[in-house]
Amino acid sequence: MNEFVAFQRSDMESVQELLCQDTFPVPAPLLEHRPSTLGTHDVATSAYTSQAIHDLEVERVWKKVWQWACRTEEIPNVGDHIIYDIAHLSVIVVRVAEGDGPGAIRAFHNVCLHRGTQLRVSDGNVPMFRCPFHGWTWNLDGSLNWISCEWDFPHVDQERFALPQIRVDAWQGFVFVNFDADCEPLDVYLENLPEHFTHFPLEDRFIAIHVERTMPANWKVTMGAFIEAYHSVVTHPQILPYTGDANTQYDIYDRHSRMITPFAVASPHIGGRSYEQGEILRTILSYRGTDPEAFELPEGGRARPVAAADARRRIGAIAGADLSNVCDSLMVDAVEYFVFPNFMPWAAYGSPIQYRFRPNGDDVNSCLMTVMMLMPFAGDRPPAAKVTKIPSNRPWSDAPELGGLAAIFEQDTSNLHRVQKGLRASPRKSVTLGDYQEARIRHFHQNIDRYLAAGS
Ligand code: FES
Ligand SMILES: [Fe+2]
Repeated sequence: MNEFVAFQRSDMESVQELLCQDTFPVPAPLLEHRPSTLGTHDVATSAYTSQAIHDLEVERVWKKVWQWACRTEEIPNVGDHIIYDIAHLSVIVVRVAEGDGPGAIRAFHNVCLHRGTQLRVSDGNVPMFRCPFHGWTWNLDGSLNWISCEWDFPHVDQERFALPQIRVDAWQGFVFVNFDADCEPLDVYLENLPEHFTHFPLEDRFIAIHVERTMPANWKVTMGAFIEAYHSVVTHPQILPYTGDANTQYDIYDRHSRMITPFAVASPHIGGRSYEQGEILRTILSYRGTDPEAFELPEGGRARPVAAADARRRIGAIAGADLSNVCDSLMVDAVEYFVFPNFMPWAAYGSPIQYRFRPNGDDVNSCLMTVMMLMPFAGDRPPAAKVTKIPSNRPWSDAPELGGLAAIFEQDTSNLHRVQKGLRASPRKSVTLGDYQEARIRHFHQNIDRYLAAGS
């Protein structure tokens, strides 16, 4: 017994049907649907709990893939750098020169070539990298600058004692690194995404919000809770009046994937298209911080175009940008792409979220979750928000800048704590996934397995 409406998939409006009703032309990439053909097999729990699998992933996944390290705007000035940690590996990403030219941003292993000390432990700005142990110093471009008691190191060829570089490239303002010197170029790795994002670029956005929380579950478990809308009905019931959770479209590419969750429609679990449109509009406007009384639903009209008009006005005012011809979908829906193995850039203005999920060092039972909001702007680029770090024993509300999202993340986090415990204790040793709604999780695991097998 449950309180929800029973329905079949064919009873629901699809995302494509909703896009046909859009007020404005919809960009071509949104009009594609590539459903999964991946089968229905289970996934072993060891993927989420095994130290040996984690260790293998460091060697065969993290040392092989392009991965998002930071935004270019986080290192605007020469000498600015961030520390990007992944598992037990650490990278310095540093701006070496002005502009976007090749070599303006470099990435180095964050390790002193003398006796191995980490060169930097925090982000900041330095003129050179000086090791705190014996003072060996490298220039920003990685060349050796100074050795203490040079006479004692005649065997060190100073010309060749540069910090080892890591491949680095940028796309849409995101700086990516790759430990593999022989890796394919970033734009090839990204498959169809560079073309898609020409329709909804993220380069000219700024970091309005930046939060990182230590999460009580494996990075793959945690990420799995953010690439499907299937859990919304039970975990986030408060969003059902304005969220087409079960209507969500899932697209499977080669390594990457996408989901489009329509907003300003009611969940099929509470009646879907027969739900009262005025109530849909009231709930979504209230959630977005708009006075519901300020908007009127035309006779027989739907909530979606009205909610989109509100979003154009509200976000356009913040950004000083003209969004008057942006389609309803990009104003109200969640359009979440997934860049293998751990990065989710969201395309739409209405939900300008970016997620990233990383192992927390080598601990298989926790991870680091990054949340950014990238907002459009007019005039000079506003300064990037500093990161708010939330430890595992503190609530998301420690980052009040997240607004209503904090409560939603709290609901997810309380599940994740239990999921990780249950996975470790499971006598079944596997998890079962839905054919369509959880296809991105299955697809992700197939790709991880592909990488693990490729190195064997
Ligand atoms: S370990 Fe870095 S200077 Fe000695
Ligand atoms: Fe959730």
